[in-house]
Amino acid sequence: MIDRRDPPPIGRVVATEQKPATPHQFHFWTANETSIGIGAIVRVEGAGNREQGAGRVVYGVVTDGFAYSDLATPLHDVVGAEGDPAKAADSPTVRQEIRLWTAAVLRQKPEEPLQPVPLREVHVASDVDVAQPLRMDAYLGGAQPTAIPVGLYTSGGLEAPVYLDADFLLGPEAAHLNISGVSGLATKTSAVEFLLGSIFQHFPIHKGRIAAVCFNVKGPDLCFLDQPGALEDEDRRRYERLAVRAQPFERVRYYAPFKADGVNLNTLRTHPELVGDVEPLVWGLREVLDYAEVLLNRDDIDAKADAFIDFLSDRVVDKEFDDGFGGTHRVVTFADLERLFRSIFDGLELAARGDTWRTHHIATIRKVRNRLSNISTRCKGLVTDDGPSNDLPWGRFEDRAVYVVDVANVDPLGQDLVFARAVSKLREHLERRDLGVEAVVVFVDELNKYAPGDGPETYVKKMLLDISERGRYLGLVLFGAEQFRSQVHRRVVGNAGTTVFGRMDSDELATPGYQVLSPATKIKLATLPIGELMVRHPHFTQPIFVRFPRPAVLRGRDGVERFPPAADLPFDDAVVRQLVKLDRRVRPNLVKDLIADRREEDVRRALAHTRQARSQDALAHFTKQLGGRVAAAPALQRESVPPLTPISDEPY
Ligand SMILES: Nc1ncnc2c1ncn2[C@@H]1O[C@H](COP(=O)(O)OP(=O)(O)OP(=O)(O)O)[C@@H](O)[C@H]1O
Ligand SMILES: [Mg+2]
Repeated sequence: MIDRRDPPPIGRVVATEQKPATPHQFHFWTANETSIGIGAIVRVEGAGNREQGAGRVVYGVVTDGFAYSDLATPLHDVVGAEGDPAKAADSPTVRQEIRLWTAAVLRQKPEEPLQPVPLREVHVASDVDVAQPLRMDAYLGGAQPTAIPVGLYTSGGLEAPVYLDADFLLGPEAAHLNISGVSGLATKTSAVEFLLGSIFQHFPIHKGRIAAVCFNVKGPDLCFLDQPGALEDEDRRRYERLAVRAQPFERVRYYAPFKADGVNLNTLRTHPELVGDVEPLVWGLREVLDYAEVLLNRDDIDAKADAFIDFLSDRVVDKEFDDGFGGTHRVVTFADLERLFRSIFDGLELAARGDTWRTHHIATIRKVRNRLSNISTRCKGLVTDDGPSNDLPWGRFEDRAVYVVDVANVDPLGQDLVFARAVSKLREHLERRDLGVEAVVVFVDELNKYAPGDGPETYVKKMLLDISERGRYLGLVLFGAEQFRSQVHRRVVGNAGTTVFGRMDSDELATPGYQVLSPATKIKLATLPIGELMVRHPHFTQPIFVRFPRPAVLRGRDGVERFPPAADLPFDDAVVRQLVKLDRRVRPNLVKDLIADRREEDVRRALAHTRQARSQDALAHFTKQLGGRVAAAPALQRESVPPLTPISDEPY
């Protein structure tokens, strides 16, 4: 509801030679008792015809405040009270006190000619006014509105929804969002969760479909986005005021690699009620080789190693390949590749043919081999030899779905690989327009770690820069969060069209990046209460403070209390659980009998094939994949027995 009350004046513009009003700043005084404060939006209206500033309306936001009296020096006050503070109050003359405020101009109407602010009455802004100074009128109405609610502006007893422009938040005009602030009080993760919900509900139809890929990098942070969280009445009221429904995300898909055993998932969402919808993220040699650069340029940039990796990827993997020493190879897995490396080293040694093989120096080959074997040992569970890979649904992304990729417990090298591959794939598909959605928000928390301002040029950093600089044309949008903005790569934060601040650290505010803020605004930022944010957006000429409700999803730390993660299951139980997920009719004991004395890698391979096949009858497929010896086992006779009954209640 729009409030059309015209509030009485609360102040008057003053201008002196020392403190003149300019087209971009003005000063005004108010009564000592006033409802405004730093961040309040005010309106100055020019007078009627022929008077100064006729017809002009100026909107400003309060950036600083001062109080003083007519004393020339503090000495007079001390002498007047004879040096006793208790006597100061008895002073026969009550000194005039003044409240003086400084405001930065948000908008002038008309915009041309641009003139100093008229020395007229000052009013607090009404609901209607808030849309004007923030230039929201341009995208709030019209045939195709693009407004996304971000929070409530609250000041001077008023409360008005503030909207971001989807064209400037999610492309193509501008894009990306960066949020910073101290740990625990800045509500960075919460603000992004709330805003994603708001985007999903308000993303304009004419802009098409949208999805989000969220990397969970910290504990259980994003593991319960599909579960409702606790809200207070005030939160509900804010949701209503912002016209956003307070509900958890409807479509959330979770992906997590396995632990080293290859069957238990490496995530905190392992409670039996929830683990069912966590998909394993498993990659083989092909997937790793495509992004092997990630492994190389952590500490060096090596063109020779790059060339050798390209050679492996183009000429060797998945093809019949002659090693030049009389052996033929078909390299599909890491183990196959290791066999090829062995025969190269042995061949070179036996044939005494020097140090090069097919123009690649043996030192380069050794280096690449070490890096590849390094990743397959350090990221066991993500990178595997056990059959087909399982990946995000490239090409089948769903509208308004969140894809959470849990890499919180993955080795840093593996995290880099996941980022690199996931983002490159998103980019590739968006370029070809065959991802399934037109726009994707990629949320990366802890940008300090992944795109630091100093340190080596890693592949991940290059990629985050690439999204920041070119993503908006593709619909690839980066939402990044970090504690210290000054420590994130300049171009990553610089390219964010929308910047949000929660409670800030004072040391951080003293760094050069915050010089444009007035001292009072900095103090407000350093003491900002939980749930309040400062927003910069291309349409707003000055930063604006807004309040937002708690996200309607279960907080990570409440989630692990309500759904405690299950202990790792023994191998056979974990296999059962995976199979039951594919086909609820599968009977645990049959599976256990079937795999009792089989090699674990064979079981994992059969499981991976079964997962890939998405067969109606998972157990039959699994049994077939496991092959051979078990022909007489009862499970194989399933074809002739009636369909299995659901056993969803059985605990694992
Ligand atoms: N709008 C809100 N109103 C009141 N409390 C909130 C609001 N949003 C979040 N909170 C609370 O603030 C706390 C911190 O939030 P959050 O975890 O999002 O902060 P963070 O900045 O991401 O912290 P960290 O740097 O540790 O990740 C949480 O306990 C959360 O419940
Ligand atoms: Mg956080």
